Amino acid sequence: MPQDIAQALAYAQQKDREDELKGFRSRFYFPRFARNTPQSEIAHSVQTSDVGPDGQTATGGFRAGRDMIYFCGNSLGLQPVAAEGSVRQELADWRELAIGGYWQARNPWMTYPASLRGPLARIVGCGEEEVTVMNALTVNLHLLMLSFYRPTPQRYKVLIEAKAFPSDQYAVETQVRMHGFEPRDAIVEVAPREGEMLVREEDILVAIEREKGSLALVLFGGLNYYTGQVFDMARITAAAHDAGAAAGFDLAHAVGNVPLRLHDWGVDFAVWCSYKYLNGGPGAAGGAFIHERHVRDQSLARLGGWWGNDESSRFRMQKGFIPKPTAEGWSMSTAQVMNMVCLKASLQLFEEAGIDRLQAKSRELTAYLSSLLAPLEGGAFRVITPVEAGRRGAQLSLFFEDRDKGKSVQEQLMEQGVITDFREPGVVRVAPAPLYNSFEDVYRFCHILRGLL
Ligand SMILES: Cc1ncc(COP(=O)(O)O)c(C=O)c1O
Repeated sequence: MPQDIAQALAYAQQKDREDELKGFRSRFYFPRFARNTPQSEIAHSVQTSDVGPDGQTATGGFRAGRDMIYFCGNSLGLQPVAAEGSVRQELADWRELAIGGYWQARNPWMTYPASLRGPLARIVGCGEEEVTVMNALTVNLHLLMLSFYRPTPQRYKVLIEAKAFPSDQYAVETQVRMHGFEPRDAIVEVAPREGEMLVREEDILVAIEREKGSLALVLFGGLNYYTGQVFDMARITAAAHDAGAAAGFDLAHAVGNVPLRLHDWGVDFAVWCSYKYLNGGPGAAGGAFIHERHVRDQSLARLGGWWGNDESSRFRMQKGFIPKPTAEGWSMSTAQVMNMVCLKASLQLFEEAGIDRLQAKSRELTAYLSSLLAPLEGGAFRVITPVEAGRRGAQLSLFFEDRDKGKSVQEQLMEQGVITDFREPGVVRVAPAPLYNSFEDVYRFCHILRGLL
C-alpha cells in the first residue's frame, strides 16, 4: 500500500471518476452499518488525524447508517434496486390475470426461462439453445451426471479436484455408489503438491492421461471457491475428450465473473447457481449448459418431465417423452417463475454493462486490491490466489496460518463495516464485484485491514 495515504485515496477516487460502469453502483442496495464505531476502535484502524468530529474518517467512515463495504458478492450478490419492481409486476399479473398470466403476463410465465437464455448465453459463451435456468446447482449437477456419467465396468472413474465444494463431493460420492461403485476406487482426486495450495494444471493433465483407460467423467470447478484459482477449462475439456471421458464444470464462482466460452471449448455440460455474481437472490433458480452436440441427441439418457417435453405436444397429455432439442429438454417441472424474477432484473444490468466491460473492470479492481495487499502480506497472512489475471477472477483469498487470527480479523472487519467471509481452514475471501464495487471500496478495505493487522 502506498505510504502516502492521501495519494492512494486520490488514485482510487480518480479511477472511480473515470469508470464507465460507475453508475451501476446506485442500482444496488448495500447493507447499512448498524452502529457507530467507538473512537477507540477507530483509532485502531486509521490515523487519528483522519477522523472527523462526527467520527467519520477522511476515507469514508464508521458512522451508523452508512453503506457497508460489501466484498461478499462471491457468496450472495447484492439486491438490484429493480428487483422489487419486478417482483411486484409478477404479483400484480398473478393477482389480475391468475392462470392467464402464463400467456398474458407482461413476461409470460410459459416462456419465462427462455427470456433469460440470451443474457446467460452471452455470459457463459454459448448459443441460446445450449443454456437454461432450472432447479438449483446441486440438483442440476445430479441430473446432468445422470446423462454424462454412464459408467461401465471398464470406464467408471470420476476425476475431481481435491477439496471440491462439499456439495459436489457428496453428489459425486452418491452417484458413484448409486451405480454400484466404491467412492475410494471410482473417485480420483487431483490435489496440490505437498506444501502447495494450488493445483498445478500439468498435474490435472497427467492424472487424466494416467486414468484414461477407466475415466468416465472429469468434473472440475471453473474457479475454486477456496483458493480463487481459475482452471483452464479448454485444456481440461480437450484432455478429458482425448481420454474418452466427458467434461463437466461447476461454475458457481465463475459465472458472471470470469470469461467463459463453453461452446467453443467443447465442454459437455456445466451447472451454476444464480445467487453469487449473478445477483439472482437467495435460492434463485440455477443454470445449466449442455453442448449443442448433445441437445438434439434424443438417445442420451436423462430423466424426463413435462416441461422438458417438446412444446407442441406438451399439452396433448399423451404417452411418449419427446425431449425439446435444447438445454430445456432437461427441465422437468413448471418454470419456477418467482425464483427467476430477481435474476431477470439483474441480467438486465449485465446486458447494459456488457460482460466484456465488466470483466475488464474486474481485472483492474482485483489488480488494485492485490497491489494494496502486497505490502501487508507475510506477517499474518498471504494471498494464495494466483497472481496472473487469467488464472483468477474477482476473488482474492487471504490465508492465515493462524486460523484463529484469520477468524478474528474477519470478525473485526465486520465490526468496522466490511463484509467479507471466512472459509475453513484459515481463509478470508475478499471479492470486489465490478457491477457495484468501487476502487475506493478497495482502498478503504485495505486501509481498515492495515489498521487491524
Ligand atoms: C462451488 C459451489 N458448488 C456448489 C454449491 C451448492 O450450490 P446449491 O446449494 O445451489 O446447490 C455452492 C454453493 O455455494 C458452491 O459455492
